[in-house]
Amino acid sequence: MRTDSPKTIYRKDYTPPSYLVETVELGFDLDPACTIVASRVQLRHNPDSKSRDLVLHGEAIELVALRMNGRELNPDQYIIDNNILTIRNAPVNVLLEIETTCVPMENTTLSGLYTSGSGFYTQCEAEGFRRITYFPDRPDVMARYTVMLRADKQQYPVLLSNGNLLEEGDLGDGRHYAKWEDPFKKPSYLFALVAARLVCQEEKYKLKSGREVLLQVWVEEGNLDKTDYAMQSLKNSIRWDEERWGLELDLDRFMIVAVSDFNMGAMENKGLNIFNTKFVLANPRTATDIDYSGIEAVVGHEYFHNWTGNRVTCRDWFQLSLKEGLTVFRDQEFSADMIGTDSGRAVTRIDQVRTLRQAQFPEDAGPMAHPVRPDSFVEINNFYTVTVYEKGAEVVRMYQTLLGREGFRKGMDLYFERHDGQAVQCDDFRAAMADANERDLKQFERWYSQAGTPVVSVSGHHDGARQVYELTLRQSCPATPGQRDKKPFHIPVAVGLLGSDGKDLPLTLGGKALGTTAVLELTAAEQTFRFEGVAHAPVPSILRDFSAPVVLEYPYSDEELLHLFRYDSDPVNRWEAGQRLAMQRLLSLAQAVLDNKPLQLDDTYVAALRAVLTDKELDAAFREQCLILPSETIIAEQMEVVHPQAIHSARQFMRHAIGTALRAELLQVYGDNATPGPYSPDAISAGKRGLKNVALAYLLVQPNTEAVKLAGEQFAAASNMTDRAAALSSLIHSGADAGKQLDAFYTDFKGEALVVDKWFAMQGSAPHTNVAKVRELMKHPAFTLKNPNRARSLLFSFCNNNPSQFHAADGSAYEFWAEHVIKLDALNPQVAARLARSMDRWRRYAPALQIHMRHALEKVAAATPLSNDVMEVVSKALS
Ligand code: PHE
Ligand code: ZN
Repeated sequence: MRTDSPKTIYRKDYTPPSYLVETVELGFDLDPACTIVASRVQLRHNPDSKSRDLVLHGEAIELVALRMNGRELNPDQYIIDNNILTIRNAPVNVLLEIETTCVPMENTTLSGLYTSGSGFYTQCEAEGFRRITYFPDRPDVMARYTVMLRADKQQYPVLLSNGNLLEEGDLGDGRHYAKWEDPFKKPSYLFALVAARLVCQEEKYKLKSGREVLLQVWVEEGNLDKTDYAMQSLKNSIRWDEERWGLELDLDRFMIVAVSDFNMGAMENKGLNIFNTKFVLANPRTATDIDYSGIEAVVGHEYFHNWTGNRVTCRDWFQLSLKEGLTVFRDQEFSADMIGTDSGRAVTRIDQVRTLRQAQFPEDAGPMAHPVRPDSFVEINNFYTVTVYEKGAEVVRMYQTLLGREGFRKGMDLYFERHDGQAVQCDDFRAAMADANERDLKQFERWYSQAGTPVVSVSGHHDGARQVYELTLRQSCPATPGQRDKKPFHIPVAVGLLGSDGKDLPLTLGGKALGTTAVLELTAAEQTFRFEGVAHAPVPSILRDFSAPVVLEYPYSDEELLHLFRYDSDPVNRWEAGQRLAMQRLLSLAQAVLDNKPLQLDDTYVAALRAVLTDKELDAAFREQCLILPSETIIAEQMEVVHPQAIHSARQFMRHAIGTALRAELLQVYGDNATPGPYSPDAISAGKRGLKNVALAYLLVQPNTEAVKLAGEQFAAASNMTDRAAALSSLIHSGADAGKQLDAFYTDFKGEALVVDKWFAMQGSAPHTNVAKVRELMKHPAFTLKNPNRARSLLFSFCNNNPSQFHAADGSAYEFWAEHVIKLDALNPQVAARLARSMDRWRRYAPALQIHMRHALEKVAAATPLSNDVMEVVSKALS
């Protein structure tokens, strides 16, 4: 909670720490009502700092005793102000002995030490360690940790911390202990402990070097039937990091622990990754294909942090993307490599593009827009964003596009050679890439410093007489908060040219043959590229594989888009052509709704879709991607003034028209893509289920006897959660009466928290669910705001994934939003601040809606008390 008025922290104000920590010894006497933490910290003055003030952070903890170099300090020998403890003029060498207490069972923020179920867990990133003990809680202070845990043996039989187990034993009086030592220096945000009644799946695993390591996945009793996939993903991650990057696991023991109360996806604590259960637990009965691929990605992500984040960490939190952008890029490449085929890889890329458009482009265009490396923040927890993560990953990907795979690998090698064991900046990564490849990457820095999504406008000109095809590229970038004028970015634009037969033309630029895809480097505001030897006007395929996170404008005709949709050898751009065709239609349909004109969908588009749907040469997963229309959120971003109901009607109309026109083909595809036999989450099978279920959804845009029956049968017969959930979701999204199935689903799975989350989520996002229905669902005994997954399942899916109801004309859902941001804030400011972001784009809505939205935002801003987290989000929205 706010203790003072919120203070903005600036990147330019960075100063080195005045003291560095050599060793930390921590002792925990774990008790939910009062845990005693004893800390012995050996510090030394940092020669890089002029200050002799020893600064320690501490929050929501009680100081019991403080000794410096063996002598008790009296309250007049230090200052505690605004969660900072300062010892003025400390000696060069300092041994601090600190005793503090905290109350884990009352810690609903899930930051620091907290209880979940009957166990203790910690979360220290970004600034949670200060909620455990007084400490210089900043990532550029790296130290060696030894940890002693003591707790009741009956209730907490498992005691875990980072690194290696040194010893364990009984203490008498029913308590026991375990002593852990982490051999690697680490920043405090990577500290973790777990004390709980857990069981594990474990395995010895041989590294390439021959060394054996112990791998463990810890879960609550009763969940051991859901750990196989996480374990398999962990082994795949270890192998992949060795093979692709030459990076080996540096510990003898690597643990994953699943916890059901968790603010984020998972956390890369050294040797002791703590995960949201959502990204560990899976079996065919409870988890969908999407859950399986999420587990693979997140297990990989956290494991890859061991090198990109832990061995080399961030100097300060402004550099967050140094570890997150890079690690997301690594997990994306891992997932793509696990599929292994080019078309499978393209499907993962399409998903990434969709995420950017759905979430990052809107963020970049809204009140919370910030550069990949922000210049300021009020609350760092608000900056774990799609910009830092996903756009950050795009920035890393662009190095690879510019330097080639080999060049990029050389840059990575140099980065580790230079910075292993250090806390560094985004600039250091860029310097390693530049130096390893002897390239000038100065201008590339703007991807880190300038916010906003660049727009690249392209025009083409063919000169038949000279057989030259010219592409002129212009770039600009809209203003963002605090950044009016932008300078040109260094943008890799991958281009191919299609002939009238649909084949790629060989490309020649300045006499140089470049194959069939050329990476143009756009560095100026405007540049022209001349392709030679082009006899006939081609169709350009621009931004292949989405080579940069930009908006591409090109005045494509329908004919050209149909040509690309049919022939482009680049699957991402092939999909993109289909999306453009759909978007043009969706926008005119939305306008027709507003103008009260009749709605119509042309046969050309339907025919093009039919061709893709029925093309058996194409992977099912790719066909599924092509069938999915741009989301209501993505359509909204294309409109000057957003009318959510018009968008919804337009999109529903188009879906219904497609479902009707392609009914026979959809039924055929539905039948052809059954996956009999035991469930497997592999990409081919998942692709089939995806295509089959998207076909079902098209057949069931509106309730009709045949499709309702089909969905009902699928629901009843499903042998896996993917098919079961898809059938139920199609039914309730169509507005069919699915009361019986909803009840059956709940009864079957009421003991599986993650499945109950799905039950709430599909109702929250169904277009027939209005705010009254959500309020009713909140009265369900299984609903609670205290568990983040559960809160997200209903509230976030309603506020973010049900736009036509969230934006109800009377503003009732905005009222609901305000009420629950405030309620959540009292429990968990981080989760509340995420919900607060649902209103980011309020200024783009129709004026009548804006009035209600402003009112709701003001209501939240005026609430007391209010966390810095929520205050920052709503005040930026209102400013
Ligand atoms: N560092 C975590 C990750 O991306 C995310 C996280 C941040 C988790 C803050 C918890 C708290 O892997
Ligand atoms: Zn991460």
